Amino acid sequence: MDACSHLCSTEDAVLRKNVAGQNMSQWPDDVGIIAIELYFPSQYVDQTELEKYDGVSAGKYTIGLGQSKMGFCTDREDINSLCLTVVTKLMERNHIEYSSIGHLEVGTETLLDKSKSVKSVLMQLFEQSGNTDIEGVDTINACYGGTAALFNAVAWVESSAWDGRNALVVAGDIAMYAKGNARPTGGAGAIAMLIGSNAPLVMDRGVRASYMRHAYDFYKPDLSSEYPTVDGKLSIQCYLSALDHCYQLYCKKSRKLYGNENQHVELSNLDAVLFHSPFCKLVQKSLARLMLNDFVNTNKKDIPEKYPGLEKFSDMKLEDTYFDRDIEKAFMDLSKDFFEDKTKPSLLLANQVGNMYTPSLYGGLVSLLISNKVENLAGKRVALFSYGSGLASSMFSLHITNNIAKGSSLDKLVSNLAYIKPMLESRQSVPPEKFSEIMETRERNHRKAPYTPEGPIDTLFPGTWYLEYKDEKHRRTYKRSPLVS
Ligand code: ACO
Repeated sequence: MDACSHLCSTEDAVLRKNVAGQNMSQWPDDVGIIAIELYFPSQYVDQTELEKYDGVSAGKYTIGLGQSKMGFCTDREDINSLCLTVVTKLMERNHIEYSSIGHLEVGTETLLDKSKSVKSVLMQLFEQSGNTDIEGVDTINACYGGTAALFNAVAWVESSAWDGRNALVVAGDIAMYAKGNARPTGGAGAIAMLIGSNAPLVMDRGVRASYMRHAYDFYKPDLSSEYPTVDGKLSIQCYLSALDHCYQLYCKKSRKLYGNENQHVELSNLDAVLFHSPFCKLVQKSLARLMLNDFVNTNKKDIPEKYPGLEKFSDMKLEDTYFDRDIEKAFMDLSKDFFEDKTKPSLLLANQVGNMYTPSLYGGLVSLLISNKVENLAGKRVALFSYGSGLASSMFSLHITNNIAKGSSLDKLVSNLAYIKPMLESRQSVPPEKFSEIMETRERNHRKAPYTPEGPIDTLFPGTWYLEYKDEKHRRTYKRSPLVS
Protein backbone atom coordinates (compact mmCIF):
# COMPACT_ATOMS: atom_id res chain seq x y z
CA MET A 1 0.00 0.00 0.00
CA ASP A 2 1.50 3.43 -0.89
CA ALA A 3 1.43 6.41 1.50
CA CYS A 4 -1.49 8.07 -0.22
CA SER A 5 -3.75 5.07 -0.22
CA HIS A 6 -2.91 4.47 3.44
CA LEU A 7 -3.79 8.09 4.25
CA CYS A 8 -6.98 7.90 2.17
CA SER A 9 -8.16 4.75 3.84
CA THR A 10 -7.44 6.25 7.29
CA GLU A 11 -9.45 9.34 6.38
CA ASP A 12 -12.11 7.09 5.05
CA ALA A 13 -12.29 5.24 8.33
CA VAL A 14 -12.60 8.53 10.20
CA LEU A 15 -15.35 9.64 7.84
CA ARG A 16 -17.16 6.39 8.35
CA LYS A 17 -17.51 7.27 12.00
CA ASN A 18 -19.86 10.13 11.36
CA VAL A 19 -20.82 13.11 13.49
CA ALA A 20 -23.49 11.07 15.20
CA GLY A 21 -20.81 8.54 16.20
CA GLN A 22 -22.48 5.81 14.19
CA ASN A 23 -20.51 3.24 12.28
CA MET A 24 -20.99 4.22 8.64
CA SER A 25 -19.41 1.11 7.17
CA GLN A 26 -22.79 -0.60 7.15
CA TRP A 27 -26.15 0.38 5.86
CA PRO A 28 -28.22 1.97 8.60
CA ASP A 29 -31.05 -0.26 9.75
CA ASP A 30 -34.70 0.08 8.77
CA VAL A 31 -34.50 3.15 6.55
CA GLY A 32 -37.91 4.55 5.78
CA ILE A 33 -40.62 6.98 6.82
CA ILE A 34 -40.55 8.27 10.39
CA ALA A 35 -43.21 11.00 10.30
CA ILE A 36 -45.74 12.34 7.80
CA GLU A 37 -47.69 15.58 7.44
CA LEU A 38 -50.41 16.12 4.85
CA TYR A 39 -51.95 19.41 3.81
CA PHE A 40 -54.94 20.02 1.54
CA PRO A 41 -56.90 23.23 0.83
CA SER A 42 -59.70 24.42 3.09
CA GLN A 43 -62.20 24.68 0.22
CA TYR A 44 -63.70 22.09 -2.08
CA VAL A 45 -66.31 21.75 -4.79
CA ASP A 46 -68.85 18.94 -4.49
CA GLN A 47 -68.71 16.56 -7.48
CA THR A 48 -72.51 16.02 -7.55
CA GLU A 49 -73.00 19.77 -7.83
CA LEU A 50 -70.26 19.94 -10.46
CA GLU A 51 -72.03 17.27 -12.55
CA LYS A 52 -75.16 19.47 -12.61
CA TYR A 53 -73.18 22.64 -13.33
CA ASP A 54 -71.22 20.98 -16.16
CA GLY A 55 -74.43 19.51 -17.62
CA VAL A 56 -73.12 15.91 -17.64
CA SER A 57 -75.28 12.93 -16.66
CA ALA A 58 -75.79 12.43 -12.93
CA GLY A 59 -73.24 9.96 -11.61
CA LYS A 60 -70.52 10.53 -14.21
CA TYR A 61 -68.06 12.10 -11.77
CA THR A 62 -69.27 10.45 -8.55
CA ILE A 63 -69.84 6.88 -9.78
CA GLY A 64 -68.09 6.82 -13.17
CA LEU A 65 -64.88 8.41 -11.85
CA GLY A 66 -65.48 7.58 -8.17
CA GLN A 67 -64.89 11.13 -6.88
CA SER A 68 -66.88 12.93 -4.13
CA LYS A 69 -65.11 16.25 -3.51
CA MET A 70 -62.34 18.21 -5.19
CA GLY A 71 -60.01 20.49 -3.25
CA PHE A 72 -58.77 23.64 -4.96
CA CYS A 73 -56.76 26.76 -4.20
CA THR A 74 -57.57 30.40 -4.72
CA ASP A 75 -54.84 32.71 -5.99
CA ARG A 76 -53.67 33.04 -2.36
CA GLU A 77 -51.96 29.66 -2.58
CA ASP A 78 -49.26 28.42 -4.94
CA ILE A 79 -46.78 25.54 -4.89
CA ASN A 80 -44.36 27.47 -2.67
CA SER A 81 -47.01 28.28 -0.08
CA LEU A 82 -48.35 24.69 -0.04
CA CYS A 83 -44.86 23.35 0.63
CA LEU A 84 -44.05 26.03 3.22
CA THR A 85 -47.25 25.09 5.05
CA VAL A 86 -46.70 21.33 5.04
CA VAL A 87 -43.06 21.56 6.13
CA THR A 88 -43.80 24.06 8.92
CA LYS A 89 -46.61 21.86 10.23
CA LEU A 90 -44.52 18.68 10.08
CA MET A 91 -41.73 20.33 12.06
CA GLU A 92 -44.11 21.79 14.65
CA ARG A 93 -46.30 18.73 15.17
CA ASN A 94 -43.34 16.37 15.50
CA HIS A 95 -41.05 18.79 17.38
CA ILE A 96 -38.29 18.43 14.80
CA GLU A 97 -35.29 20.76 14.93
CA TYR A 98 -34.49 22.45 11.60
CA SER A 99 -30.82 21.73 12.27
CA SER A 100 -31.53 17.98 12.26
CA ILE A 101 -32.24 17.87 8.50
CA GLY A 102 -29.39 17.09 6.09
CA HIS A 103 -31.25 16.44 2.83
CA LEU A 104 -34.40 18.06 1.48
CA GLU A 105 -35.91 17.27 -1.85
CA VAL A 106 -39.18 18.44 -3.41
CA GLY A 107 -41.17 16.49 -5.98
CA THR A 108 -43.56 18.66 -7.96
CA GLU A 109 -44.86 19.35 -11.45
CA THR A 110 -46.26 22.78 -10.55
CA LEU A 111 -43.58 25.16 -11.83
CA LEU A 112 -43.34 28.85 -10.96
CA ASP A 113 -39.81 30.11 -11.29
CA LYS A 114 -38.59 27.30 -13.56
CA SER A 115 -34.86 27.48 -12.85
CA LYS A 116 -35.38 28.26 -9.17
CA SER A 117 -36.44 25.32 -7.05
CA VAL A 118 -39.25 25.18 -4.49
CA LYS A 119 -36.59 23.66 -2.23
CA SER A 120 -34.69 26.95 -2.32
CA VAL A 121 -37.87 28.77 -1.21
CA LEU A 122 -38.22 26.31 1.69
CA MET A 123 -34.70 27.20 2.84
CA GLN A 124 -36.25 30.36 4.35
CA LEU A 125 -37.70 28.12 7.06
CA PHE A 126 -34.20 26.92 7.99
CA GLU A 127 -32.64 30.39 8.23
CA GLN A 128 -33.13 30.88 11.95
CA SER A 129 -31.47 27.55 12.72
CA GLY A 130 -28.42 28.55 10.66
CA ASN A 131 -28.63 25.24 8.81
CA THR A 132 -27.65 25.75 5.17
CA ASP A 133 -25.88 22.40 4.80
CA ILE A 134 -28.81 20.60 3.18
CA GLU A 135 -28.48 18.58 -0.02
CA GLY A 136 -31.22 18.08 -2.61
CA VAL A 137 -33.25 20.25 -4.98
CA ASP A 138 -36.48 19.66 -6.97
CA THR A 139 -37.34 16.57 -8.96
CA ILE A 140 -39.80 16.75 -11.82
CA ASN A 141 -41.77 14.25 -13.84
CA ALA A 142 -45.54 14.72 -13.58
CA CYS A 143 -46.97 12.79 -10.60
CA TYR A 144 -43.76 10.74 -10.14
CA GLY A 145 -41.52 13.50 -8.71
CA GLY A 146 -42.42 12.72 -5.09
CA THR A 147 -41.40 9.09 -5.52
CA ALA A 148 -38.11 10.06 -7.15
CA ALA A 149 -37.50 12.43 -4.21
CA LEU A 150 -38.31 9.62 -1.76
CA PHE A 151 -35.92 7.19 -3.49
CA ASN A 152 -33.19 9.85 -3.49
CA ALA A 153 -33.71 10.63 0.19
CA VAL A 154 -33.54 6.95 1.13
CA ALA A 155 -30.42 6.57 -1.05
CA TRP A 156 -28.81 9.53 0.73
CA VAL A 157 -29.43 7.95 4.15
CA GLU A 158 -27.93 4.70 2.86
CA SER A 159 -24.92 6.39 1.21
CA SER A 160 -21.40 7.45 2.13
CA ALA A 161 -22.66 11.08 2.09
CA TRP A 162 -24.96 10.46 5.06
CA ASP A 163 -23.93 12.36 8.17
CA GLY A 164 -26.43 10.88 10.62
CA ARG A 165 -29.13 13.50 10.10
CA ASN A 166 -32.59 12.84 8.71
CA ALA A 167 -33.92 13.70 5.26
CA LEU A 168 -37.11 15.48 4.32
CA VAL A 169 -39.18 14.63 1.27
CA VAL A 170 -41.82 17.10 0.16
CA ALA A 171 -44.32 16.50 -2.63
CA GLY A 172 -46.89 19.08 -3.62
CA ASP A 173 -49.04 20.12 -6.55
CA ILE A 174 -52.04 22.08 -7.68
CA ALA A 175 -53.85 19.87 -10.19
CA MET A 176 -56.06 21.97 -12.42
CA TYR A 177 -57.52 21.32 -15.84
CA ALA A 178 -59.13 23.63 -18.39
CA LYS A 179 -62.94 23.47 -18.56
CA GLY A 180 -64.00 20.12 -20.00
CA ASN A 181 -63.96 16.43 -19.20
CA ALA A 182 -60.63 16.41 -17.32
CA ARG A 183 -61.60 19.21 -14.90
CA PRO A 184 -63.31 16.92 -12.32
CA THR A 185 -60.04 14.99 -11.97
CA GLY A 186 -58.24 17.95 -10.37
CA GLY A 187 -57.20 18.43 -6.74
CA ALA A 188 -54.43 20.03 -4.67
CA GLY A 189 -52.24 19.25 -1.69
CA ALA A 190 -48.80 18.66 -0.27
CA ILE A 191 -47.11 16.03 1.83
CA ALA A 192 -43.91 16.08 3.87
CA MET A 193 -42.19 12.91 5.04
CA LEU A 194 -39.30 12.59 7.47
CA ILE A 195 -36.88 9.90 6.28
CA GLY A 196 -34.28 8.18 8.42
CA SER A 197 -33.13 4.96 10.04
CA ASN A 198 -35.08 2.86 12.58
CA ALA A 199 -38.29 4.01 10.90
CA PRO A 200 -41.71 2.47 11.55
CA LEU A 201 -42.41 2.27 7.79
CA VAL A 202 -39.39 0.52 6.32
CA MET A 203 -38.59 0.57 2.60
CA ASP A 204 -38.07 -2.96 1.26
CA ARG A 205 -34.68 -3.48 -0.39
CA GLY A 206 -34.03 -5.28 -3.65
CA VAL A 207 -37.58 -5.48 -5.03
CA ARG A 208 -38.12 -2.04 -6.53
CA ALA A 209 -39.31 -2.25 -10.13
CA SER A 210 -39.43 0.65 -12.58
CA TYR A 211 -40.79 1.22 -16.06
CA MET A 212 -39.79 4.40 -17.91
CA ARG A 213 -40.39 5.41 -21.48
CA HIS A 214 -41.34 8.29 -23.75
CA ALA A 215 -45.04 9.18 -24.17
CA TYR A 216 -47.01 12.36 -24.81
CA ASP A 217 -49.99 11.36 -22.65
CA PHE A 218 -49.97 14.39 -20.34
CA TYR A 219 -47.49 17.27 -20.34
CA LYS A 220 -47.30 21.04 -19.88
CA PRO A 221 -45.83 22.58 -23.05
CA ASP A 222 -47.59 25.95 -22.61
CA LEU A 223 -45.60 27.66 -19.90
CA SER A 224 -48.01 30.60 -19.87
CA SER A 225 -50.81 28.36 -18.58
CA GLU A 226 -51.29 26.32 -15.41
CA TYR A 227 -53.22 23.71 -17.41
CA PRO A 228 -51.72 20.57 -18.95
CA THR A 229 -52.20 19.18 -22.44
CA VAL A 230 -53.89 15.82 -21.91
CA ASP A 231 -54.71 12.82 -24.05
CA GLY A 232 -57.03 11.22 -21.48
CA LYS A 233 -57.42 7.83 -23.11
CA LEU A 234 -53.71 7.49 -23.88
CA SER A 235 -52.87 8.47 -20.30
CA ILE A 236 -55.03 5.62 -18.99
CA GLN A 237 -53.44 3.16 -21.41
CA CYS A 238 -49.96 4.33 -20.39
CA TYR A 239 -50.87 4.05 -16.70
CA LEU A 240 -52.20 0.49 -17.05
CA SER A 241 -49.32 -0.62 -19.23
CA ALA A 242 -46.80 0.82 -16.74
CA LEU A 243 -48.64 -1.00 -13.95
CA ASP A 244 -48.38 -4.34 -15.79
CA HIS A 245 -44.65 -3.92 -16.38
CA CYS A 246 -43.86 -2.77 -12.84
CA TYR A 247 -45.93 -5.50 -11.19
CA GLN A 248 -44.43 -8.27 -13.33
CA LEU A 249 -40.93 -7.07 -12.52
CA TYR A 250 -41.73 -6.56 -8.83
CA CYS A 251 -42.98 -10.17 -8.65
CA LYS A 252 -39.89 -11.44 -10.46
CA LYS A 253 -37.51 -9.55 -8.17
CA SER A 254 -39.42 -10.70 -5.08
CA ARG A 255 -39.24 -14.33 -6.19
CA LYS A 256 -35.50 -14.01 -6.68
CA LEU A 257 -34.87 -12.16 -3.44
CA TYR A 258 -36.90 -14.45 -1.25
CA GLY A 259 -35.01 -17.43 -2.62
CA ASN A 260 -37.74 -19.49 -4.21
CA GLU A 261 -37.80 -18.96 -7.97
CA ASN A 262 -40.88 -21.15 -8.21
CA GLN A 263 -42.85 -19.53 -5.43
CA HIS A 264 -45.61 -17.44 -6.86
CA VAL A 265 -45.72 -13.80 -5.74
CA GLU A 266 -49.27 -12.61 -6.14
CA LEU A 267 -51.91 -10.27 -4.77
CA SER A 268 -52.75 -12.57 -1.88
CA ASN A 269 -49.18 -12.14 -0.53
CA LEU A 270 -49.63 -8.38 -0.16
CA ASP A 271 -51.53 -6.92 2.78
CA ALA A 272 -52.28 -3.60 1.10
CA VAL A 273 -51.84 -2.29 -2.44
CA LEU A 274 -51.72 1.48 -2.98
CA PHE A 275 -51.79 3.35 -6.27
CA HIS A 276 -51.30 6.82 -7.62
CA SER A 277 -54.93 7.90 -7.91
CA PRO A 278 -55.92 10.18 -10.83
CA PHE A 279 -59.50 9.17 -9.95
CA CYS A 280 -60.69 6.36 -7.68
CA LYS A 281 -62.35 4.27 -10.39
CA LEU A 282 -59.02 3.88 -12.18
CA VAL A 283 -57.53 2.56 -8.95
CA GLN A 284 -60.25 -0.06 -8.62
CA LYS A 285 -59.58 -1.08 -12.22
CA SER A 286 -55.86 -1.18 -11.42
CA LEU A 287 -56.32 -3.59 -8.54
CA ALA A 288 -58.38 -5.78 -10.90
CA ARG A 289 -55.53 -5.46 -13.38
CA LEU A 290 -53.10 -6.97 -10.86
CA MET A 291 -55.41 -9.96 -10.54
CA LEU A 292 -55.39 -10.19 -14.33
CA ASN A 293 -51.58 -10.23 -14.15
CA ASP A 294 -51.74 -13.05 -11.57
CA PHE A 295 -54.07 -14.89 -13.95
CA VAL A 296 -51.55 -14.47 -16.79
CA ASN A 297 -48.79 -15.78 -14.52
CA THR A 298 -50.80 -18.87 -13.60
CA ASN A 299 -49.94 -22.19 -15.12
CA LYS A 300 -52.66 -22.92 -17.73
CA LYS A 301 -53.52 -26.28 -16.20
CA ASP A 302 -54.36 -24.57 -12.88
CA ILE A 303 -56.69 -21.96 -14.41
CA PRO A 304 -59.97 -23.97 -14.26
CA GLU A 305 -59.48 -24.55 -10.56
CA LYS A 306 -58.10 -21.12 -9.61
CA TYR A 307 -60.21 -19.00 -11.98
CA PRO A 308 -63.34 -21.04 -12.80
CA GLY A 309 -65.28 -19.67 -15.76
CA LEU A 310 -62.37 -17.54 -17.00
CA GLU A 311 -60.65 -20.21 -19.13
CA LYS A 312 -61.85 -18.34 -22.25
CA PHE A 313 -59.36 -15.56 -21.47
CA SER A 314 -56.36 -17.82 -21.09
CA ASP A 315 -54.84 -16.96 -24.48
CA MET A 316 -55.14 -13.19 -24.30
CA LYS A 317 -52.14 -10.86 -24.19
CA LEU A 318 -52.02 -8.12 -21.54
CA GLU A 319 -51.24 -5.40 -24.08
CA ASP A 320 -54.47 -6.14 -25.99
CA THR A 321 -56.74 -5.74 -22.99
CA TYR A 322 -56.50 -2.13 -21.76
CA PHE A 323 -60.03 -1.29 -22.86
CA ASP A 324 -61.49 -4.80 -23.13
CA ARG A 325 -64.82 -4.46 -21.30
CA ASP A 326 -65.39 -8.22 -20.82
CA ILE A 327 -62.03 -8.79 -19.20
CA GLU A 328 -62.31 -5.60 -17.16
CA LYS A 329 -65.71 -6.62 -15.78
CA ALA A 330 -64.70 -10.22 -15.08
CA PHE A 331 -61.63 -9.21 -13.08
CA MET A 332 -63.36 -6.28 -11.36
CA ASP A 333 -65.97 -8.76 -10.09
CA LEU A 334 -63.39 -11.33 -9.11
CA SER A 335 -61.17 -8.86 -7.26
CA LYS A 336 -63.99 -7.07 -5.41
CA ASP A 337 -63.13 -8.51 -1.98
CA PHE A 338 -59.42 -7.88 -2.47
CA PHE A 339 -60.22 -4.29 -3.45
CA GLU A 340 -62.35 -3.75 -0.32
CA ASP A 341 -59.65 -5.24 1.88
CA LYS A 342 -56.34 -4.19 0.32
CA THR A 343 -57.00 -0.93 -1.52
CA LYS A 344 -60.26 0.84 -0.66
CA PRO A 345 -59.06 2.09 2.78
CA SER A 346 -56.27 3.96 0.96
CA LEU A 347 -58.71 5.97 -1.18
CA LEU A 348 -60.20 8.23 1.48
CA LEU A 349 -58.16 11.31 0.56
CA ALA A 350 -58.22 10.63 -3.19
CA ASN A 351 -62.02 10.52 -3.02
CA GLN A 352 -62.33 13.59 -0.78
CA VAL A 353 -59.61 15.86 -2.22
CA GLY A 354 -59.03 14.55 -5.75
CA ASN A 355 -55.79 14.01 -7.61
CA MET A 356 -53.05 15.86 -5.76
CA TYR A 357 -50.53 14.69 -8.41
CA THR A 358 -47.17 14.02 -6.65
CA PRO A 359 -48.69 13.58 -3.15
CA SER A 360 -51.52 11.35 -4.42
CA LEU A 361 -49.85 8.00 -3.71
CA TYR A 362 -48.68 9.19 -0.30
CA GLY A 363 -52.16 10.51 0.47
CA GLY A 364 -53.08 6.85 -0.12
CA LEU A 365 -50.54 5.80 2.50
CA VAL A 366 -51.92 8.35 4.98
CA SER A 367 -55.49 7.17 4.26
CA LEU A 368 -54.44 3.59 4.98
CA LEU A 369 -52.76 4.58 8.25
CA ILE A 370 -55.75 6.55 9.53
CA SER A 371 -58.30 3.94 8.48
CA ASN A 372 -56.84 1.19 10.65
CA LYS A 373 -56.09 0.58 14.30
CA VAL A 374 -52.34 0.47 14.94
CA GLU A 375 -52.57 -3.20 15.94
CA ASN A 376 -54.04 -3.99 12.52
CA LEU A 377 -51.18 -2.21 10.76
CA ALA A 378 -48.28 -3.88 12.57
CA GLY A 379 -46.21 -6.27 10.49
CA LYS A 380 -48.10 -5.55 7.26
CA ARG A 381 -46.46 -5.38 3.82
CA VAL A 382 -47.69 -2.52 1.64
CA ALA A 383 -47.07 -2.34 -2.12
CA LEU A 384 -47.13 1.07 -3.79
CA PHE A 385 -47.46 1.93 -7.47
CA SER A 386 -46.27 5.36 -8.55
CA TYR A 387 -47.08 6.75 -12.00
CA GLY A 388 -46.11 10.02 -13.63
CA SER A 389 -47.11 10.78 -17.19
CA GLY A 390 -44.47 11.22 -19.80
CA LEU A 391 -43.73 8.54 -18.40
CA ALA A 392 -42.02 7.34 -15.23
CA SER A 393 -43.35 4.61 -12.94
CA SER A 394 -42.24 2.30 -10.13
CA MET A 395 -43.66 -0.36 -7.88
CA PHE A 396 -42.04 -0.71 -4.49
CA SER A 397 -43.02 -1.90 -1.05
CA LEU A 398 -42.57 -1.12 2.56
CA HIS A 399 -43.25 -3.06 5.70
CA ILE A 400 -44.72 -1.75 8.90
CA THR A 401 -42.88 -2.55 12.11
CA ASN A 402 -44.34 -4.84 14.73
CA ASN A 403 -43.78 -2.57 17.71
CA ILE A 404 -47.14 -1.02 18.54
CA ALA A 405 -46.38 -0.07 22.14
CA LYS A 406 -47.60 3.33 23.28
CA GLY A 407 -44.89 5.86 22.44
CA SER A 408 -43.30 3.59 19.82
CA SER A 409 -42.32 5.18 16.52
CA LEU A 410 -45.34 3.62 14.78
CA ASP A 411 -47.70 4.79 17.50
CA LYS A 412 -46.28 8.34 17.22
CA LEU A 413 -46.48 8.41 13.43
CA VAL A 414 -50.11 7.27 13.39
CA SER A 415 -51.32 9.34 16.34
CA ASN A 416 -49.80 12.47 14.77
CA LEU A 417 -52.15 11.95 11.81
CA ALA A 418 -55.27 12.15 13.98
CA TYR A 419 -55.96 15.70 12.77
CA ILE A 420 -56.70 14.62 9.20
CA LYS A 421 -60.31 13.43 9.47
CA PRO A 422 -61.50 16.49 11.46
CA MET A 423 -59.62 18.73 9.01
CA LEU A 424 -61.42 17.10 6.07
CA GLU A 425 -64.75 17.63 7.83
CA SER A 426 -64.05 21.29 8.62
CA ARG A 427 -63.58 22.33 4.98
CA GLN A 428 -66.00 24.68 3.26
CA SER A 429 -68.04 23.68 0.25
CA VAL A 430 -67.91 26.25 -2.55
CA PRO A 431 -70.61 26.25 -5.28
CA PRO A 432 -69.38 25.31 -8.79
CA GLU A 433 -70.16 28.82 -10.12
CA LYS A 434 -67.80 30.33 -7.55
CA PHE A 435 -65.20 27.60 -8.14
CA SER A 436 -65.31 28.36 -11.86
CA GLU A 437 -64.82 32.10 -11.18
CA ILE A 438 -61.82 31.31 -8.97
CA MET A 439 -60.28 29.23 -11.77
CA GLU A 440 -60.80 32.19 -14.15
CA THR A 441 -59.13 34.55 -11.69
CA ARG A 442 -56.11 32.24 -11.56
CA GLU A 443 -56.05 31.99 -15.38
CA ARG A 444 -56.17 35.79 -15.81
CA ASN A 445 -53.49 36.58 -13.28
CA HIS A 446 -51.14 33.64 -13.51
CA ARG A 447 -48.38 35.64 -15.19
CA LYS A 448 -49.23 39.10 -13.90
CA ALA A 449 -46.55 41.08 -12.04
CA PRO A 450 -46.73 43.06 -9.89
CA TYR A 451 -49.74 41.31 -8.41
CA THR A 452 -51.63 41.24 -5.13
CA PRO A 453 -53.85 38.15 -4.85
CA GLU A 454 -57.62 38.63 -4.49
CA GLY A 455 -58.46 35.47 -2.51
CA PRO A 456 -59.55 35.81 1.12
CA ILE A 457 -57.23 34.93 3.98
CA ASP A 458 -59.84 34.17 6.61
CA THR A 459 -61.00 31.03 4.77
CA LEU A 460 -57.55 29.41 5.04
CA PHE A 461 -56.84 26.85 7.75
CA PRO A 462 -55.04 28.36 10.77
CA GLY A 463 -51.27 28.53 10.27
CA THR A 464 -51.39 28.33 6.46
CA TRP A 465 -48.72 30.11 4.44
CA TYR A 466 -50.19 32.27 1.67
CA LEU A 467 -48.96 34.51 -1.14
CA GLU A 468 -48.94 38.08 0.05
CA TYR A 469 -47.48 39.81 -2.99
CA LYS A 470 -45.63 39.28 -6.25
CA ASP A 471 -43.45 42.25 -7.21
CA GLU A 472 -42.63 43.55 -10.70
CA LYS A 473 -39.74 41.09 -10.94
CA HIS A 474 -42.06 38.16 -10.04
CA ARG A 475 -40.43 37.83 -6.61
CA ARG A 476 -42.96 36.35 -4.20
CA THR A 477 -43.43 37.08 -0.53
CA TYR A 478 -45.46 34.91 1.82
CA LYS A 479 -47.20 35.33 5.14
CA ARG A 480 -48.77 32.90 7.56
CA SER A 481 -52.44 33.01 8.59
CA PRO A 482 -53.13 33.29 12.36
CA LEU A 483 -52.56 30.06 14.30
CA VAL A 484 -56.06 30.17 15.78
CA SER A 485 -59.16 30.87 13.70
N1 ACO B 1 -73.23 7.29 -14.20
C1 ACO B 1 -72.22 6.43 -13.92
N2 ACO B 1 -71.11 6.33 -14.68
C2 ACO B 1 -71.00 7.13 -15.75
C3 ACO B 1 -72.00 8.04 -16.10
C4 ACO B 1 -73.17 8.11 -15.27
N3 ACO B 1 -74.15 8.95 -15.51
N4 ACO B 1 -71.61 8.70 -17.21
C5 ACO B 1 -70.40 8.22 -17.55
N5 ACO B 1 -70.03 7.27 -16.66
C6 ACO B 1 -68.79 6.53 -16.60
C7 ACO B 1 -68.25 6.07 -17.93
O1 ACO B 1 -68.86 4.85 -18.34
C8 ACO B 1 -66.77 5.91 -17.61
O2 ACO B 1 -66.55 4.75 -16.86
P1 ACO B 1 -65.87 3.44 -17.51
O3 ACO B 1 -64.61 3.92 -18.17
O4 ACO B 1 -65.63 2.57 -16.35
O5 ACO B 1 -66.89 2.95 -18.47
C9 ACO B 1 -66.52 7.05 -16.62
O6 ACO B 1 -67.81 7.44 -16.15
C10 ACO B 1 -65.87 8.27 -17.25
O7 ACO B 1 -66.61 8.60 -18.40
P2 ACO B 1 -65.86 8.87 -19.76
O8 ACO B 1 -66.86 9.18 -20.80
O9 ACO B 1 -64.87 7.78 -20.03
O10 ACO B 1 -65.10 10.19 -19.33
P3 ACO B 1 -64.35 11.21 -20.22
O11 ACO B 1 -63.72 10.54 -21.38
O12 ACO B 1 -65.25 12.36 -20.47
O13 ACO B 1 -63.18 11.70 -19.21
C11 ACO B 1 -60.96 11.14 -18.43
C12 ACO B 1 -62.45 10.80 -18.39
C13 ACO B 1 -60.40 10.77 -19.82
C14 ACO B 1 -60.24 10.32 -17.39
C15 ACO B 1 -60.74 12.66 -18.17
O14 ACO B 1 -61.33 13.00 -16.95
C16 ACO B 1 -59.30 13.06 -18.18
O15 ACO B 1 -58.70 13.27 -19.23
N6 ACO B 1 -58.66 13.21 -16.96
C17 ACO B 1 -57.26 13.61 -16.85
C18 ACO B 1 -56.30 12.53 -17.28
C19 ACO B 1 -56.07 11.47 -16.21
O16 ACO B 1 -56.42 11.62 -15.07
N7 ACO B 1 -55.40 10.35 -16.63
C20 ACO B 1 -55.04 9.28 -15.74
C21 ACO B 1 -53.56 8.97 -15.65
S1 ACO B 1 -52.50 10.35 -15.81
C22 ACO B 1 -52.64 11.37 -14.43
O17 ACO B 1 -52.52 10.96 -13.33
C23 ACO B 1 -52.88 12.79 -14.64
